[in-house]
Amino acid sequence: MNTNRTISLFAGIGLFLLSTLATTPVSAAEDDQYKHAEHLYDTYCAQCHGANRDGNGLNSVYISVQPRDHSDPKGMGDIPNDEIIEVIKKGGLAANKSVLMPAWGEIFSDDEVNQLAAYLRHICKCGSN
Ligand code: HEC
Repeated sequence: MNTNRTISLFAGIGLFLLSTLATTPVSAAEDDQYKHAEHLYDTYCAQCHGANRDGNGLNSVYISVQPRDHSDPKGMGDIPNDEIIEVIKKGGLAANKSVLMPAWGEIFSDDEVNQLAAYLRHICKCGSN
């Protein structure tokens, strides 16, 4: 390999690492805290609620009631924690919402549901109430 190329390759990697650091919005510790919930969300929720957490998942075009935009501080801020936890466990019907929001209580442990609820607060940046 020619030396100049090798140097520019390393410079490129350095720039890439720098840009990753610069654009990372949350600290590593915070990342760890939400890691499991984020994984659950990507696996079980994103197909409806969207990879960007904005309610525009792949399935959203096929269902009559639109999934909640989890990135919306206003919409999410108006939902109390109890309701978020109830809806995740028992589905939309538990809060007089659409049956199109499935129940996850048989799939997740209570701890996982709580982690998901905390993660949703993290995404909407809308605190707890
Ligand atoms: C099959 C599509 C679908 C999947 C998968 C799905 N949801 Fe939903 N979700 C919906 C729909 C539709 C609504 C809106 C219900 C309404 O407003 O009547 C909703 C609403 C919600 C709400 C707001 C409830 C409220 O009181 O307004 C929360 C919180 C939520 N979903 C969390 C989740 C989580 C967490 C997951 C993954 C574990 C998930 N959803 C997976 C379709 C889905």
